[in-house]
Order: sequence, then structure tokens, then C-alpha cells
Amino acid sequence: MRYLFALLAGCSVFSTVSSWTEIHHKPFLTKNIDAIVQPGLYTSHMHTFFGSDAITNVLPTSSQLQQGCYSGENGNDFSVYWIPTLYYVDGETFTEVPIFRFSTYYVNSRSEIPIPLDFAMISGNASAQSQDEVDAQPRNNLEWFCEGSDDREPDIAKFPTKTCNQNLKLSLVFPSCVNTDDISQYDFPDQSGKCPAGMKAIPQLRYGVWYNTKSVAPGGWDGDAPFQLSCGAASGNGYCGHGDFINGWFQDSLDNMMIRGGGGYNDGQFISGAHASALGESTCTPTDADPDKGTSDYLESLEMM
Ligand SMILES: *[C@@H]1O[C@H](CO)[C@@H](O)[C@H](O)[C@H]1NC(C)=O
Repeated sequence: MRYLFALLAGCSVFSTVSSWTEIHHKPFLTKNIDAIVQPGLYTSHMHTFFGSDAITNVLPTSSQLQQGCYSGENGNDFSVYWIPTLYYVDGETFTEVPIFRFSTYYVNSRSEIPIPLDFAMISGNASAQSQDEVDAQPRNNLEWFCEGSDDREPDIAKFPTKTCNQNLKLSLVFPSCVNTDDISQYDFPDQSGKCPAGMKAIPQLRYGVWYNTKSVAPGGWDGDAPFQLSCGAASGNGYCGHGDFINGWFQDSLDNMMIRGGGGYNDGQFISGAHASALGESTCTPTDADPDKGTSDYLESLEMM
């Protein structure tokens, strides 16, 4: 009997169903830094940060991220995640749109290897100002829409042109193929899910971001949305939407991500590891690791560029 159980457990462990997990993370910092694109500088457009607070303008290793405090709900995950900051524009006044929820999803349906330690990647293009430029990077599925609505703009990467009754939502898929000989090289799989030659499939990361637009724009909008991303040249478009990730998971959880995951938030699925065995709020308070430099003020960040 015991032997049979072991056999069954073994089978489920190695099955390749499309399993996934969702983790919520609170924003803890808005700042004009970008350790991947502009290392060492304070000249970036504004970003909103989630996850490990051991982040400055210098690219951290996974083990450096693990020295920090995390803002998420999985104590095995000290990754850092960031996105361009979204503002509500009223004349000359830029007000940060509050984030209702930031979720990361990890899907391991096709993974061949765990996400490598120290791996950093970007999805989307901060310079894109049209749908064509977004589509130049296929399969990032950058999409803005109103939560609870089936309406989509002809350009799916453009902000909705009508008031959202619920939250405004951003969805973004990350590359899931990496060259293990040089982890600075990564890409998307092709349509059939196959990685480019010389690359291996890792679990796929996706962001879901819910913005509470009602709290800043209670009157709503009709036409170009009164919102502007820090990377955007003008309000109304979301084409420059992008996301950044630096791996801060512990190795045991990265291994478990290959065999666990699966299922939705709060349904018992959890990427386990030695540092946490269930979802839970962090007991520390994430802070700015480099508080005397850079700025959290949008207009000041424009001057520093
Ligand atoms: C981003 O978009 C710009 C404008 O189309 C383009 O020049 C640039 O090559 C793109 N960058 C990447 C990494 O795709």
C-alpha cells in the first residue's frame, strides 16, 4: 500500500499539466531608478517596486535580494518586481494612481529548468508609443482593460477609452526561455511553445496589476484616458507598459516551482520552501535601501533625466 502511494505521488510530481500559482505583493517604493537598464544612475523614469527591498540602482544578486525585507505573501520569494508608475493627469498635476492589487503568476506547464539564480529580465518596451511597436515583441500579451468588462480597444495595449466600473487592469507575460550559458540572453517561446535554439524553458512569469482609478478620477472619462505612464510621452496610451524582474527565490523553492505550483490563490497551492510553508504577510516593513538619493517626485524625476 505504501509503495502504491509513493508511486502515485511520483506520477503527479512529474506530470506537466498547466499548473500555476499566484502571489500578491504590496508596492513599497516609487523611485527614479532602474538597476537593469540604467545601473548606477538616478535618471530613469519613475518605477513602482514590489518584493524585496534590497534594491538600489545597482543590479543585485539573488542572495543580496534575500538579505532584504519582502512585500509579498510568500516568504520564499525575495524577487524584486517593478513597473512604470501610473499617474492621473489633471492639468499640470500628476497624482499616482493607487494600486489595488499586484499579482505575480508562475506557470510551469513547459518548464525544462528552474529559473536561474541572479536571472533578470524585462518584458515590454519602454520606448513603444504604438501598438505596432508593442507587437514588435510578440507574445508579451501586453493588455489594458477594465476589470469585469469584455470591451477591448482595437489596440489592446491602449488604455480603455471609457470609465472603468471596477479597477483598471494591466496584464503582461514575460519571456520564458533562457540561455543557461549566458543568462543575459532570454526570449519568448514560439507560438507552439518551443524555445529558440540554445535556450531552455523556465516557468513563465506573468504580472496582473489592478489600479484603483475611481479614487483619483471619480468622474471617469470618455475618450483618451486621463492617465499617463512614467515612460509615456502623453496621456491616453499605455503602449510603453513594461515589467522588470530579478530572481530572488531561494534555490529550494525554485526547484519546488518545477513540481508544485498549480491552482489558484488561496486554494492551497503554494510554492513551498525552507523559509515559508504557507501564504503569510511579511513581518518586516520594506523601506528604501538608498533613501538619500534619487526622487519619488514625478516632476523632479523629469528634471533628473
Ligand atoms: C522598442 O521600440 C523602439 C521604437 O519602436 C525600437 O526602436 C526599439 O528597438 C525597441 N526595443 C526593443 C528592445 O525591442
